[in-house]
Amino acid sequence: MIKPDAVANGYAGGIISKIIEAGFRISAMKLTALSPERASQFYAVHKARPFYNDLVKYMSSGPIIAAILEKENAVNDFRKLIGDTDPFKAAPGTIRNLYAKSIDANAIHGSDSDANADIEANFFFSVTERF
Ligand code: GTP
Ligand code: MG
Repeated sequence: MIKPDAVANGYAGGIISKIIEAGFRISAMKLTALSPERASQFYAVHKARPFYNDLVKYMSSGPIIAAILEKENAVNDFRKLIGDTDPFKAAPGTIRNLYAKSIDANAIHGSDSDANADIEANFFFSVTERF
């Protein structure tokens, strides 16, 4: 998911280019937005964390781009491509290093396991929207 700050700042094109150059196939993609209810559902695993309310408010603050990406070793390779959660710790050339300004507004989300990638793909897309 390209997060609201990156969409609002006009970084979506640059981010999508990096994803394609890194060898990912985009099998679904759409510009959409999360209501506070949908954002809290998406990040329900973080419900107990102190930053949860801010995270939900931020993730529902504007349009996002949701996508399903395919590649061998996709989860690990994508997390390498996006960099550390904190953009100040993200390695040079990673998406968060290039496009994120803070840990709260960190430009992009990547699934943390194959199982969660499947859950998150179904959260955003129906089977008929995938190519
Ligand atoms: P996502 O790809 O968005 O899931 O990020 P992540 O997997 O790198 O981090 P994690 O799942 O642990 O946290 C989800 C989101 O919560 C992060 O992207 C951050 O925006 C936010 N977050 C995580 N840890 C902190 C923190 O210590 N402080 C604050 N303010 N936000 C945090
Ligand atoms: Mg995460």
